[in-house]
Parts: sequence; structure tokens; C-alpha cells
Amino acid sequence: MRRKLAAGNWKMHGSVSALAELTTLAAQIDPQGCETVICPPATLLFHACQLVTSTDIAIGAQCCHPQPHGPFTGDVSARMIAETGASYVIAGHSERRDRYAETDAEVQAQIRAAWRENLTAILCVGESGEDRQAGITLDTIATQLAGSLPDGANGENVVIAYEPIWAIGTGDVPTLAQIGEVHDFIRAQLVRRFGDTQGKTIRLLYGGSVKPSNAADIFTAENVDGALVGGASLQAADFLPIIQALNDA
Ligand code: PGA
Repeated sequence: MRRKLAAGNWKMHGSVSALAELTTLAAQIDPQGCETVICPPATLLFHACQLVTSTDIAIGAQCCHPQPHGPFTGDVSARMIAETGASYVIAGHSERRDRYAETDAEVQAQIRAAWRENLTAILCVGESGEDRQAGITLDTIATQLAGSLPDGANGENVVIAYEPIWAIGTGDVPTLAQIGEVHDFIRAQLVRRFGDTQGKTIRLLYGGSVKPSNAADIFTAENVDGALVGGASLQAADFLPIIQALNDA
């Protein structure tokens, strides 16, 4: 049985005062329900981890450098993230792949680094609008999975988020059939590579313009175990109904 997961990606938003949203969330989430993870900016990780101690919220980072330390100005290593008390890290978000030219091989190295520090990686994959137009969505996903997901993946150490780039922050959402097709495809790839047992324990999230208004619908799609939510995770008042919809699905 895969435990459902609602993950919030705050991106470069939030402040010390915005961490009050975590306290609001913690007071209202159902401990028997889905798992909840919030990924704030690196500067807030330590403080966020302190705040959620003895709540049902876990904290994650948004990316990590594969080396534990070194001359990498501005970067934060998986080891440093683990030291804050965080337990998750996003890897290969399309904004990092695009803006910082992170390759599949680099994303794979980040995930290996995350595993060395016992962090669970949330690996993002997803096609561009051009890929979808050209009918190569599944090829793109297959290439990203093959290149960025290390051997040894299992339900404990990785979660995969399908995030079509054209749906991120745009309000455009794929049809349920499109989401279901990609999630089924990812599941089949995982089972083929890691076997039935491991392949079926890895959770698959949908991400891209998930809102309180569309969450319940999205959670009816095949093989969707939760969501990776950007904008609608910044405020508890938006994220809570999404969590509720996931619990009800
Ligand atoms: P969005 O972002 O929910 O604001 O579209 C999702 C993401 O980039 O993870």
C-alpha cells in the first residue's frame, strides 16, 4: 500500500513570518491521512524543521549539490540539508533543469547524494509543450527516468513527480486521460526496471497548477498517489483543501 503524499514546493517564496502557515497546517491535518511535506527555501529549512518537530509535517529542500562540501559558491549539499533535520529533497525540477542546465546525469548524482544522507528524493520529470505537440511525451519521460533515476530506487528513498512543464504555474492542466497515461507509463517503467515489488511501492505525484478547485478531479486519475504543489502550497488555506481532497480520494 502506498501512503498518499501532498508535497508543497515553496520555490523562492516565503519568509520567517510565512512559517506560521506550517503551524496552521499542522493544527489541521489528519495524522491518519496523507503524508505532508513542505519544501521551503534553504534559508528557512532549519527554522521550519524546528517548528514541525512533533507534528505530522516533514520538511524538504528544493535541490542539493552532489558533493558534501567544496568550492561551490551558493550551493547547498545534501549533507547540509540533512543536518537541518529535513528528510526530503526535490531533484530535477524543470526550473532547475532549464535555468541551471541540470542534466539527467547531474540529477542522478544529486539523488545519490541525497540517499547517502538518508534523504528521500522527489524526482521531477515532465515534457515541454513542444514535446507534447510533437507526440514525444512518453519518450521524454522515459529518457529522463532512465538518465536521472539511479539503480536501487525503492518506495522509501524516492518519489516521482510528473510535472508537465507547460502546466507549471500556468493554470493549464492536462486531461485526466493524459495524466493517467503518463502515470501508467511511469509505473510500467518502474516495474520493468525494479521489479514488481519495488516498482509498485514508489509513489507517483502529479504536479502543475494543482489547486483546491481541481485537486479532487486530478486525484481520480490512474496511479496518482498525491501532488507536488507550487503556488497553492504557500498558504495553509489553499493547501489544506488539497490535502483533504487527497485524503478523500
Ligand atoms: P504550480 O507549481 O503548482 O505553481 O504550478 C508546481 C511545481 O512547480 O512544482
